[in-house]
Order: sequence, then C-alpha cells, then structure tokens
Amino acid sequence: MDADVSLDTNLARTSRAELHRPLRDAVRWNFRAEFDRLQTSWRHRREPVEVNFRHIVPLGSGVDRATHLFHPYPAKLLLNIPLFFLSSPQVAPKNSRVFDPFCGSGTVLVEALLAGHRAAGADANPLARLIAQAKTCHIPSFKLWQSLQSVLSEFHPGRSSEFSPVVKQEFWFTERVAADLSALLYSIRQNCDGHTLVFMEACFSSCVKRLSVSDPRLSVPVRLKGDALEAHLQSLPDVRTFFEKAVRLNIARLEKLPEQACAASLEFDARHYAGGSEQADLIITSPPYAGAQKYIRSSSLSIGWLGLAPDNQLRTLERQNIGREHFSKLEYGSSSNVQDLGSDFLATIRSENPLRSHIADVYLHEMNAAADAITRRLANSGHLVLVVGDNMICGRPFPTSALLKKIFLRKGLTVILELVDDIRSRGLMTKRNKTAGTIEREHVVVFQKV
Ligand SMILES: C[S@@+](CC[C@H](N)C(=O)[O-])C[C@H]1O[C@@H](n2cnc3c(N)ncnc32)[C@H](O)[C@@H]1O
Repeated sequence: MDADVSLDTNLARTSRAELHRPLRDAVRWNFRAEFDRLQTSWRHRREPVEVNFRHIVPLGSGVDRATHLFHPYPAKLLLNIPLFFLSSPQVAPKNSRVFDPFCGSGTVLVEALLAGHRAAGADANPLARLIAQAKTCHIPSFKLWQSLQSVLSEFHPGRSSEFSPVVKQEFWFTERVAADLSALLYSIRQNCDGHTLVFMEACFSSCVKRLSVSDPRLSVPVRLKGDALEAHLQSLPDVRTFFEKAVRLNIARLEKLPEQACAASLEFDARHYAGGSEQADLIITSPPYAGAQKYIRSSSLSIGWLGLAPDNQLRTLERQNIGREHFSKLEYGSSSNVQDLGSDFLATIRSENPLRSHIADVYLHEMNAAADAITRRLANSGHLVLVVGDNMICGRPFPTSALLKKIFLRKGLTVILELVDDIRSRGLMTKRNKTAGTIEREHVVVFQKV
C-alpha cells in the first residue's frame, strides 16, 4: 500500500504542466506476457513468486495519475498492483465488471475505469464512499468551474453550516478557521447538487485535516503541542484560497477520467450481497487488518464537518468496521473460533491479552462472512485478486495472508497464482510496540471460481 499524501505535499509535487500532460493510458499497457511468465514460474515452484510491482509497472511512488491524489486516505493500495491485473487479459478481458468490496478511497475503481472496465465497490466508511464517488465520476470541467465561481462568490463568513459533534470542534480548529470552514460548507451546499456536490464536498474534506491543529504527519488526529503547535498556527493557510487550490487541482485530475466514467453507486458492507445484484468478473481488493488501522478515527474531522455519522456517534460507524479495536469487557468472554482458523495463535495470546485475542477472533469471523458474500458475487470463471500483508498482534506475527487464503479456499475458490512484494512505504500503519505493527511484505493471491 502506498503512503498517504497530504494536500500540501500534493500541491508542491504537482506542477500545472504535469497535471495537463496526457495520461499514460492503461490501454497501452498489456501485461499478458508478464502474467504468463509469473504464472509459469509459480506453477513450477508452487510457492509465491517474488516480484516488485514498482518495476513491473514503472510508475513512481505517489504519482499524480488521474484522480488518485484527490484526497488522502489511510493505507491506500499501491496503484501499480490493480493496474497490472486490470491490464492482464487473462484475468481482465475487455469490459470486465470489476468490484472492490473494501474500496476505501477507490484506487481499484479508478484504475478499472482507466482500463476501460466497469467499476463498482463497497466500503463501511462513509467518507471513503464519498471520496471514491468523487474520484470516479466524470463531470465536465466547465460545470465545475461555474460551481466554483458561485461557491466562492457566495462565501460570506457569518453564514454557517453545523458541525456534528462527533469530536470537539473547538479542540481541533481555531475559531477563525472553524468560522470560515462553516461558511464555505454552507456556500457549497447552497450552490451545488448531485455529482457536483459530491465533488465539492470531497474537495472540502481534502482540506480539513491540514486546516486543523492536528499533526499532519499522522493519519489519526493527534493535537499538536508547544512549539510545533505555534509553528503550525503561523503556517495555517487561508481557508478560501486553500480550498480553491484543491478544487483547481482536482478539476484537472477529473479531466483525465474517460468521459462516460462513473462507478456504480457504492455499497455499505462487504458482508452483504443481495443475490439479485450484478456479479463481478474480477474482484480486486485489499481488506482491512485486525486492529491495525483506524479508518473511522482518521476520518473523524471530515465526518464531523460533513455530518456523516448516524446519531453523531463514531462508534455506530466503527461497529461496521472489520478489524475494529473497541470492545467492552463483557464481550471478550464470547470468543469462539472460525473452524479452527488461527486457533493456536489466539490461544497463545488470550491469556496475556484477552482484548487483542478477541479483536483477532472477531476479525476472522467477519472476514469469513465477507468471503461468503465475495465468493457469491464472483461470476463463474471469474477471478479474485487479494492483496494482503501480515501484521503483528501482541508482538507476534499474525499470519493474516495465510488465514485469509485458507478462508477463500474453503469457499471453493482455486489459487492460480501467488506473488509476494516487499513494501517500503507504510506511512500510515498504526505503530504500537506491543499490540500492532508494520507489515513488510504484501502477499497477492489470485483465485479463480471454477
Ligand atoms: C486497506 S483499506 C482499502 C484501501 C483502498 N484499497 C484504497 O486504495 O484506498 C480497507 C477498507 O476496508 C473498509 N472496511 C472495513 N470494514 C468494512 C466492511 N464491513 N465493509 C466494507 N468495507 C469495510 C475500511 O473502511 C477501509 O476503507
């Protein structure tokens, strides 16, 4: 997965000329021969083939390709991985129906549209759905420019939108910034609707973290202190100007999507598949880890501004998140195991840390339910590309990739290729000395439903 990129870095990195350079279209990449070579090597040795996706798909890390840098998001997938599979006809014939059940900010969906496929996704985090929608729906630039003009000309401090109290607004924003953000959001909502409103709200959200007093180096908000806070307050940009810059960059990015591009509406939960809805020819996904990422917490400032949490409770959203960490003591006792999956590991850590053991156990249960829905959604002969690393729980390696592979094998899928890639940029994994830890290798398992 790729490190997150803040809007500041993003602005510095992206020159106007670069944004307007024609996109190196995925149609030009055809990895048929490379896919065959890797598969021959895997069949020969029957063990994961070492690869480096940054070499296979020679695009620099954090490249400003189409809409990928529209908005920061924790633990984004390295775009080289979906790009490779979506351009390999063995798993992605023309006009495939591509689905990502844990789509996050939409990396797979964007690449699917660029490669000329159809795209659909699901995510439990409402901010992820907003970002993914904004990144995958083409809107003519002239419409966005007009809306931007209206939003800016009707931006009048004093008119305000309410902040929903999922976190304390006054703790995270200075009075001036809060008043300006509130007036800006009011103007956006007065002047935009439909896809344009989604686009503008996602641009607004992309500015929020930088305009708060939280540490810009961390994905989860942590308030700056002392000299660092003073320096940050001195460098706080003007809200209106900062937003305008973000919109300008994102309009140029959106121009790089194919004109008819629009991902299907996004679903809420990877565990639910209503049998009647469309099946997928290719599913590419990087699922969450047990206790290793705080997707809802890291989105909390935007969730507050945009009012995305039901009942103004982050907990309500967290409860739908696979891999979550919050459980009451009463719940620990109810641990049971998914058909013996990971039982040795869970038994070892249960005595020393029942909460961590429970987190891992619930994770396996919920991933098992998601695997059911994913397998049912996959069309016959369709492929699933699972991108997953191993993480640490209580200082011990938790073999997530092997456990998830086992779960999908039990659902009747067949492995047709296994790759392993070293990853160096893990900027946003939550680092905890004892309980969670970074993941050094990314396993890519390709299954087929036969
Ligand atoms: C590793 S991230 C995916 C990142 C994504 N590939 C990207 O590039 O932005 C895992 C995602 O799973 C989502 N998630 C957690 N529980 C879920 C559930 N029950 N249904 C759908 N998505 C869920 C999280 O909100 C998070 O966005």
